[in-house]
Amino acid sequence: MNSKIKEIRAMEILDSRGNPTVKTTIILDNGISASASCPSGASTGENEAMELRDGGKTRYGGKGVLKAVANVNERIAPVLIGMDPTRQEEIDHFMIGLDGTPNKSNLGANAIVSVSMAVARAASLASGLPLYTYMGGFGARQIPVPMMNILNGGKHADNSVDFQEFMIMPIGAPSFAEALRYGAETFHALKGILSKKGYSTNVGDEGGFAPNLKSNEEACDVIIAAIEAAGYKPGKDIAIALDPAASSFFTDGKYQLTKSGQGTKNNDQMVALYQQWIDKYPIVSIEDGLAENDWDGFKKQTSAMGKKIQIVGDDIFVTNKKYIVRGIQEKTANAVLIKLNQIGTVTETVDAINLCRKTGWNFVISHRSGETEDTFIADFAVAMGGGQIKTGSACRSERIAKYNRLMEIEAELGKAAIFENPLL
Ligand code: PGA
Ligand code: ZN
Repeated sequence: MNSKIKEIRAMEILDSRGNPTVKTTIILDNGISASASCPSGASTGENEAMELRDGGKTRYGGKGVLKAVANVNERIAPVLIGMDPTRQEEIDHFMIGLDGTPNKSNLGANAIVSVSMAVARAASLASGLPLYTYMGGFGARQIPVPMMNILNGGKHADNSVDFQEFMIMPIGAPSFAEALRYGAETFHALKGILSKKGYSTNVGDEGGFAPNLKSNEEACDVIIAAIEAAGYKPGKDIAIALDPAASSFFTDGKYQLTKSGQGTKNNDQMVALYQQWIDKYPIVSIEDGLAENDWDGFKKQTSAMGKKIQIVGDDIFVTNKKYIVRGIQEKTANAVLIKLNQIGTVTETVDAINLCRKTGWNFVISHRSGETEDTFIADFAVAMGGGQIKTGSACRSERIAKYNRLMEIEAELGKAAIFENPLL
């Protein structure tokens, strides 16, 4: 007989930036207990599901989540108690109905997603299966290639770099554990190079270095130097992926490269800049190269370079089927960044991924810049099998926790584990 949800309890905890977030624990009638925590973004898309914060000035500068916690304990819990945790879709749709708004602003996406993730975890424990097998079936054996964000700028760092993320992808590694080693060694080599040049080696929110470089381009130069210094071949062993997060520097209808002092650009000039970069550097993926409302710019970029590289939409799609459908119709991109808390339930996230699969688009499972020690996305990435994960640099425990979990999964799968470059 299947187990039933006996108790649901949420509490306020802190994320990696010291801001409050929601952690939910679910207890089943067979004594199994499972928890999950909600992450939080800084360069959020305007159409994301709403993170409910308390407001006011007295607690955490208005960022408290006691209302969201109360919504789990007092409004969601009574409806879900007695339900079978394997009925994920039904449970998620109960919460969507209970919320009743298009962006989950009534109960809060932070409240809803923490319950949704905890339900999946409780069900996996009740089934006696690892979370990745429970969510993905026995065919879920592909360990994702990490996109490791080793140099941070934009809203994630107080420096002179406009583009938010410069990532390395160890595409030539034979296994996930080796990929992580390639990445960590390059990260350490980069530290040495930055120090030698007199730059700071302090890190940003996702654990990448945040130096005051002379230009955005210099970020690619120092990364290439680091890959070589670590003994790897740029483009063969390790490629570069970018997330400029262009919505964050798009103001008054223009792309304003103010942090670096590199002037203003329109979307044609941005696409031309990316074209120059992909000719010069081994860049295999560009996410949010244009702003979230610049559908026209995205389309121009995809038609110019979508055959050669991966064009990922994050803020423009916000893991929401409605926007992904438009993107497919308009050939806006060829891949989607997937963040559970952008849409707010596991079921809707899986729906967004299924849409990508059906269209032949890639998808990348992603953390947020504000994270917790929860490793849910590591299992989720293996379960969904897209072959790519973005979960930060080679330092900061909230990032490393996901990498360590992926190493554990790879070891557990043994010979059955698959690790291959998804961009071939
Ligand atoms: P965020 O940024 O988590 O701060 O929103 C991550 C990203 O843009 O991919
Ligand atoms: Zn992004």
